[in-house]
Amino acid sequence: GVSTMQLKVNGTVRSIQAEPRVSLLDALREYMDLTGTKKGCDHGQCGACTVHVDGRRINSCMTLAVMNQGKEITTIEGLAKGEELHPMQTAFLKHDGFQCGYCTPGQIMSGVACVREGHATSDDQTREWMSGNLCRCGAYPNIVAAVREVQQ
Ligand code: FES
Repeated sequence: GVSTMQLKVNGTVRSIQAEPRVSLLDALREYMDLTGTKKGCDHGQCGACTVHVDGRRINSCMTLAVMNQGKEITTIEGLAKGEELHPMQTAFLKHDGFQCGYCTPGQIMSGVACVREGHATSDDQTREWMSGNLCRCGAYPNIVAAVREVQQ
């Protein structure tokens, strides 16, 4: 049956009525209208659904919403400070780190975590640690360039 859960997303606690089987990804997109987080494969293969939970990257399609109560969830919508883009967003714009843009929110969330965790100290390391974020357009060189700029 449906139950009430409370999720803290981008600093605001929100209450939703959903079945316990609902993924965090579907909770964000379908129950909170936070559609910046994308659904590519829905089974942990593409990284389009990457969000931060307590500062760590996760594929939000692979975790149940109910398991993430009491945690700090950050989505692409929570990255900018008002009108001011996060440096990673600015770098993606500057380096054309996207073509169709579908994978971009996940790439950006992943890039932010990589830099924060010290996993972007070289281009090879960045490619390795962001290998879970697929880009069907093949914008990888520009994505790596954007991450490199923020890392420096
Ligand atoms: Fe979650 Fe592809 S939609 S990894």
